[in-house]
Amino acid sequence: MTDTFSFQINATDGAARTGAISTPRGEIRTPAFMPVGTAATVKAMYPEQVRATGADILLGNTYHLMLRPSAERIAALGGLHKFMQWDRPILTDSGGFQVMSLSSLRKITEEGVTFRSHVDGSQHAMSPERSIEIQGLLGADIQMQLDECVGLPCEDAEAERAMRLSLRWAERSKKAFELQPKGRALFGIVQGGAVPRLRVESARALADMDFPGYSIGGLAVGEPQAVMMEMIETVEPHLPQSKPRYLMGVGTPDDLLEAVGRGIDMFDCVMPTRSGRHGQAFTRFGKINLKNARHQNDPRPLDEESDCPALRDYSRAYLHHLIRCEEMLGSMLLTWVNLHYYQDLMRGARAAIAEGRYADYKAATKEGWARGDI
Ligand code: GUN
Repeated sequence: MTDTFSFQINATDGAARTGAISTPRGEIRTPAFMPVGTAATVKAMYPEQVRATGADILLGNTYHLMLRPSAERIAALGGLHKFMQWDRPILTDSGGFQVMSLSSLRKITEEGVTFRSHVDGSQHAMSPERSIEIQGLLGADIQMQLDECVGLPCEDAEAERAMRLSLRWAERSKKAFELQPKGRALFGIVQGGAVPRLRVESARALADMDFPGYSIGGLAVGEPQAVMMEMIETVEPHLPQSKPRYLMGVGTPDDLLEAVGRGIDMFDCVMPTRSGRHGQAFTRFGKINLKNARHQNDPRPLDEESDCPALRDYSRAYLHHLIRCEEMLGSMLLTWVNLHYYQDLMRGARAAIAEGRYADYKAATKEGWARGDI
C-alpha cells in the first residue's frame, strides 16, 4: 500500500492504455468503470457485491450528500467510506453538474452557484472552495474541481464563457485543495462545448496548472456519439500522457469501447444501475429489455455460461415477472447483471490492451452484440 497518489501505465495499444492508479485506499485498475453511488449507496446493491463484480472505485455526489445527510454529519460519523461500508477509493463529483440538472432557481456568478434544493426547496450556495471543503469532509480520494457544464447544442460564446469560468474555478479549487491531507487527488475538468478551439484551450490551460488527473466534462449532454469522439480526439493530445483521463458521465458499452480506444482511463455512468432498475439488461449478446412480453414464457437464463448468479440462475420469465410487478428483487438482479457486464467489458479491455489486440477485442465484442442470443 502507498501513501501517495500515482498513476502507472503498464501497456499501450494505439492510443489505448492499461495501468493502475495507486492510492492509500487501494489500487484502481485502468481502464476503470466506476459504479455510481450518488446517495452513499449503489442503488439495489450491497457494497461487497459491487466489489465482487470487480469495481475498484465508486463515485459519490457532493450535491446529494450536502443536502442529505450533510457533509458535516458524514464527517462527524467518520467519513463517507465508513458511513457506507466501502473502504476502497471513492471519487466525488463537485456538484456543479448536478445543481444544473436537478435543483431550481439556479444562479451562477463569478463567486459560485446559488440554488434551491430539489429535496425541500431550501436555499444553498456553492463556491469552488465550499465544494472542495465538502469533498474533503466526505474524505473523497479523488475530487473534482467545481465547473460549469453547458448542454449541447450551445452557442460558441456561451460555451466559451462557461469554459473560462471553469478555468478560473479550477485555480480556486486547486488552492482550496492544498489544505487537504496528502494522498488525495484533485482533477481539473476540460470544458468547451463542441468547439475544438475551446476544448484545446481548456485542456492546455488545465495541463499548465499541473493536476494529478484530468476529466473531460460537458459530453453525453445531447450530442451524437461522433461529436463526443471528435471532442476526445481533439483534447487527448493536449493532456499529459502520464496522467489519468476521466470521461465524465459516459456511457453506453459502445461509448466505453470507443473512448478506451482513444486514450480514456476512467468512466462513470448511471446507465447500468438506472436502466437495470427499469428492466434493461446489458449482456455479451447486447441489450435485452426484460419488460418485453416475449420473455414471459422463456425458461432460459440470460447467460447460462456466466459465472454471475444473476445471469446464470434466474429465468428470463422470472426476471420479466419481477420487473412487471416492480418487485425490488428485479432491480437488484438486473443491477447486478449490468454492473457485472460493465466490469467484464473493462476487464476484457485491460487484458486486450496488455496483449496488443484491442482492435480485435472491440470488433469481437460488437459482433457479439449484433449477433444477439436467439
Ligand atoms: N458529469 C457528467 N458531465 C459532467 C461535467 O461536465 N462536469 C461535472 N462536474 N460532472 C459531470
